[in-house]
Amino acid sequence: MTGREILIKVKDLMKSYPVTNDTRLEVLKGINLNILKEEIVAIVGKSGAGKSTLLHILGTLDKPESGKVLFEGEEIFLKKEKQIAEFRSRKIGFIFQFHHLLPEFTAMENVLIPSMISGTADKSKAADVLAEVGLKERMEHKPSELSGGEAQRVAIARALINSPSLILADEPTGNLDSENAEAVIELIFDLRKKHKQTFVIVTHNEEFANRCDRIIKLHDGKVIL
Ligand SMILES: Nc1ncnc2c1ncn2[C@@H]1O[C@H](COP(=O)(O)OP(=O)(O)OP(=O)(O)O)[C@@H](O)[C@H]1O
Ligand SMILES: [Mg+2]
Repeated sequence: MTGREILIKVKDLMKSYPVTNDTRLEVLKGINLNILKEEIVAIVGKSGAGKSTLLHILGTLDKPESGKVLFEGEEIFLKKEKQIAEFRSRKIGFIFQFHHLLPEFTAMENVLIPSMISGTADKSKAADVLAEVGLKERMEHKPSELSGGEAQRVAIARALINSPSLILADEPTGNLDSENAEAVIELIFDLRKKHKQTFVIVTHNEEFANRCDRIIKLHDGKVIL
């Protein structure tokens, strides 16, 4: 099912945060990993293991202290800030545990936001992605008029609008009951099949992790599995 080509290569990635003036908390202590094109990879590990930190760096929302992230062979963090932002909006989609939809806007408008930023806003594309996540009949609803599962699917549609090759998800089912979680999991597998997208998913859901192509386990800032 998965392609053989490497999409992302991470080399000796380190990240720490300042705690006091002269002490730092080492969060990532030399991460090495590859993500293949069309792979669905689960990132697991205890709370505080560095999963979200790693995901944010992969998504260029945060910078590493040292080490490299290569995307299709290109070293991302050597690019200029503006090019990094362009790369992020073109290539990467984000799904978070909480949908972070804007309450004043409809499902359709929320989905259109990333494409407005990249200058490609297209209502018919937004309608297509909303239909793809099963929300054809909910496009004009505001977040308060959606169920939790529906709101999360709007957030997934929003992540898909720019046709990213990589989708990063931080506990996408963390806030859902088992039925809605299952719908999100099925959707992710369908999307990979249809669009050949790559998914890196932080999850505490063991069953979900086991269904992914591969599990990367973080412990104490290192990959142990
Ligand atoms: N901006 C920050 N400044 C300082 N410390 C931070 C910052 N972000 C994260 N940390 C610390 O880094 C460690 C790793 O955090 P991270 O959010 O990556 O963990 P996680 O594996 O995603 O945990 P969880 O499963 O609870 O979401 C934690 O101890 C956290 O307190
Ligand atoms: Mg986290």
